[in-house]
Amino acid sequence: MSEQTEYQAESYLPEPAERPCVLVVFGGAGALAQRKLAPALYNLAQDRLLPRAFALLGVARTARTDREYRGILRAAIHEHSRRPPRTDLLERLLGAVHYQALRPGQRADWTALAERLREIDARHGTAGCRLLYLATPPQAYAGILAGLHGCGLADKDAGQSATRIVIEKPFGTDRPSAAELNRRLAGWLDEEAIYRIDHFLGKETVQNLLVFRFSNAIFEPLLSNRHVHDVQITVAEDAGVGERGNYYDTTGALRDMVQNHLLQLLCLVAMDPPQGMDLPCVRAQKVKVLRAIASLTAEEAARQVVRGQYKAGEAMNGYRDEPGVAADSQTETFVALRLDVRNARWAGVPFYLRTGKRLARRVSQIVVTFKREKPLLFSPEHCDWRSPNRLIFRLQPAGGISIAFDAKAPGPRLLLRPVRMDFDYERSFDVPGPEAYERLLLDALKGQMCLFAGAHEVDESWRIVDSIRAAWEQPGTCPLREYPCGSWGPYQAAAIFTDQETSWQTT
Ligand SMILES: NC(=O)c1ccc[n+]([C@@H]2O[C@H](COP(=O)([O-])OP(=O)(O)OC[C@H]3O[C@@H](n4cnc5c(N)ncnc54)[C@H](OP(=O)(O)O)[C@@H]3O)[C@@H](O)[C@H]2O)c1
Repeated sequence: MSEQTEYQAESYLPEPAERPCVLVVFGGAGALAQRKLAPALYNLAQDRLLPRAFALLGVARTARTDREYRGILRAAIHEHSRRPPRTDLLERLLGAVHYQALRPGQRADWTALAERLREIDARHGTAGCRLLYLATPPQAYAGILAGLHGCGLADKDAGQSATRIVIEKPFGTDRPSAAELNRRLAGWLDEEAIYRIDHFLGKETVQNLLVFRFSNAIFEPLLSNRHVHDVQITVAEDAGVGERGNYYDTTGALRDMVQNHLLQLLCLVAMDPPQGMDLPCVRAQKVKVLRAIASLTAEEAARQVVRGQYKAGEAMNGYRDEPGVAADSQTETFVALRLDVRNARWAGVPFYLRTGKRLARRVSQIVVTFKREKPLLFSPEHCDWRSPNRLIFRLQPAGGISIAFDAKAPGPRLLLRPVRMDFDYERSFDVPGPEAYERLLLDALKGQMCLFAGAHEVDESWRIVDSIRAAWEQPGTCPLREYPCGSWGPYQAAAIFTDQETSWQTT
């Protein structure tokens, strides 16, 4: 790294977390903990952002020693860290790592956990401050929460104000179960202590959406039904379900992706400017967007939603052949839908959302297509009127923003051609951004909630998603369409457009 770059990298670093903390990860040796959480912690440690008094306690049902658990995390960090780990720093971090086996149904195990935490506090100076992280399969949440409450680790009335809890997605499986989870949590912890994670919100490029919109005078005035023709949000994966067939087959794309990631992105692109960047202001504007989206009737769902499932392709399993998936599974691996935001800013502008597995490319982007100006000066022979102006927010893999507009092609003839102006995140700032989980863990350690979803957002998202699922239960309403691996989903996904000129944008 050059001197200049090193200086720049330092200058972008946030303030470290100061409050002492034991991070207690339930499901501490699972896939998420190994792939994301442990590497994120290492990178925070390398940037000196962890509190001075810090310890990690991994918790799961399997019996392991501290030493064995450290070995698992060491290997995981070597494999998944965005920067090769430095041995001295890694070993110092692992020195603060412990493990506790726990069977959620056994009262004695909870007592032992509480006792172990007191020992860790005494050893690491963590003063009873806990960040509890639920990284187990969601079916285990209720039992873990009850156990935490039963042994006094989650009890606002018993002075557990130093405890915060992070809950992995999915937050519930439908609106009633999410409401029940919220009700349970609210009884035991204050809303300010509940961090509902959506890792999309931790991505730099997603956070940049708000900066781009609200700090640049030249774009924000254009983002309304006066100028915008439609908005498309795509989160496409080229991978299949992999090892997660068991989980995915009971969830599907609508609940796994639309309920959280895609609706959160929709909120960020559609919300009105908040009065400030503090938590209540941002959350209030997001909830207003979701409330402006009506639940879909079965007739609307039939017109506005397409669901699909990938079938076997060249050397690739079809979804039903994947491990853990039922041979006659009706679970959707693709969904495309049209939503209307019925408020003064957006009425009449369709929002198209699309997500799926085994699609042509891994790409997440938001494309805002502007209305075409009437050809006052240039006649159709001069220009390609099928290329309207577009604003493209590229979220991954390479984050950035592009603007597509017309320019005069070189030469004596007056010929208009579409061109693009590109901003590339990494090239412009010359430093790789942190992983989403680094940012979110650091925020949770510091008590900053802006990038976490509130109870009302979760509730409203489930309302919309549940209305679609209810329609799917009516025979013949939205048949499951097959699509080949490596395509952009079922061709029927184009049927949800309100006009003939719109097409899915994949650039
Ligand atoms: N994997 C990812 O990339 C990813 C990404 C985003 C979100 N998530 C979310 O993160 C959570 C964890 O996902 P994961 O992929 O890490 O799951 P996982 O590997 O299947 O499970 C994590 C660990 O939880 C423990 N566990 C399972 N059932 C338990 C129970 N009843 N009580 C206590 N511990 C239990 C298991 O260890 P023991 O058998 O030893 O108990 C397991 O190793 C899920 O909610 C998932 O949706 C995962």
